[in-house]
Amino acid sequence: MKILIVGNGGREHAIGWSLKQDPRVTDLVFAPGNAGTTTLGTNVSIAATDTKALANWAKSEKPDLVIIGPEAPLCVGLTDEIEQLGIRVFGPNKKAAQLEGSKVFTKNLLQRAHIPTAQSETFAHAAETLEYLKSAEYPIVVKADGLASGKGVIICQSEAEAQEAVKKIMIDQDFGAAGTQVLIEEFLDGQEASIHAVTDGDELVVFSPSQDHKRIFEGDQGPNTGGMGAYAPTPAVDGPLLEEIIGCVFRPLLEEFKKSNIQYKGVLYGGLMLTSKGPKVLEFNCRFGDPETQVILPLLETPLLDIILATVSSSLRDIDFRVKNQSAMTVVMASPGYPESPKTGSPISGLTDVCADNQIIFHAGTSHSEGVIKTSGGRVLSVTGIGNTLLNAKEVAYQGIAKISFESAQFRRDIGHRAL
Ligand code: AMP
Ligand code: GLY
Repeated sequence: MKILIVGNGGREHAIGWSLKQDPRVTDLVFAPGNAGTTTLGTNVSIAATDTKALANWAKSEKPDLVIIGPEAPLCVGLTDEIEQLGIRVFGPNKKAAQLEGSKVFTKNLLQRAHIPTAQSETFAHAAETLEYLKSAEYPIVVKADGLASGKGVIICQSEAEAQEAVKKIMIDQDFGAAGTQVLIEEFLDGQEASIHAVTDGDELVVFSPSQDHKRIFEGDQGPNTGGMGAYAPTPAVDGPLLEEIIGCVFRPLLEEFKKSNIQYKGVLYGGLMLTSKGPKVLEFNCRFGDPETQVILPLLETPLLDIILATVSSSLRDIDFRVKNQSAMTVVMASPGYPESPKTGSPISGLTDVCADNQIIFHAGTSHSEGVIKTSGGRVLSVTGIGNTLLNAKEVAYQGIAKISFESAQFRRDIGHRAL
């Protein structure tokens, strides 16, 4: 099979790595990919957001399957375009991808389905929002409705901070049209967990529950990033709690999609807060998490291709879904200055020294330049370690990290601290 994978992050490298183990997969093409994905297949230089060029490529190259990694192309309807060509595609269509593309859409869906989530109010006018803030309780969370590269959620300790957030989103329009509406949401306290499922609209399979570390510095301090590390399974979500989450969040969500006449096929990635009053939904994403993918896919026993093909052909109920009885941890190495202003272009050394069977390097911001691999993005790569225990997986991951270096690399030494 010839498969096109859209995206260039660690997530897409991990999807490719997982598929590459499968003898049915003969050709992997990444658009645009990174230096790591060239060891699995070929890169074509088309941006993940250039849906016209991607559809044209698919039309002429006729892949057997297209897998869309990031949310941006899903939210603008790349799935619909590829489907129209009669090519199989993994990822929700434009209507379904509103699950990530509009927080207002999702909040309404969750409320209609009585799915536990933070209480919130939706506003479309700044004056009205500012008025509401006067009588609100703090802390409070201000959220831009649309996609804002992870920056559209602002936790505010006081009315003054909330006013500033509303000004930024609604008046200054820092996130453009994504800030036409805002949600003002109750602040929830607890540990966060990432629950990934894949659904064909009727049935679903649920991956090992994971947790990521969003803050740049150790002790979960400093600004938010795309994620500095992740691990799975997390002891914060044991078997009974996972069953509860499937029963009170995922199943009712699928029912509500059906009632709304939306066919949802693809990844459902729930970000949940484990509060003292039970799990509550913070957000839903319509694609795999990054860096969570780098730990949940290595723990899969069932071939990823089987899951994807069964999703596309609506036969997920026939899948024998299994995950390994092991743990995985991934540790991200980032460029100096990340997340605000990453400095890139440094040569990376030690990549070939990370070669144990239970160690995997997943590239993100890397590229080939003058015959060497150099840093080319904020998050550069991550090393995943696999072990029989989480502690074991951590040791393996950090042994890999110790072998890789580039100028002023940043990484956290405490990934998994909540669990260990
Ligand atoms: P979201 O994009 O909605 O997941 O928000 C990004 C991050 O903001 C989450 O991972 C949480 O850490 C935090 N967050 C979002 N909503 C809330 C909330 N209601 N209470 C507390 N933290 C929140
Ligand atoms: N790890 C967070 C995300 O993928 O959104």
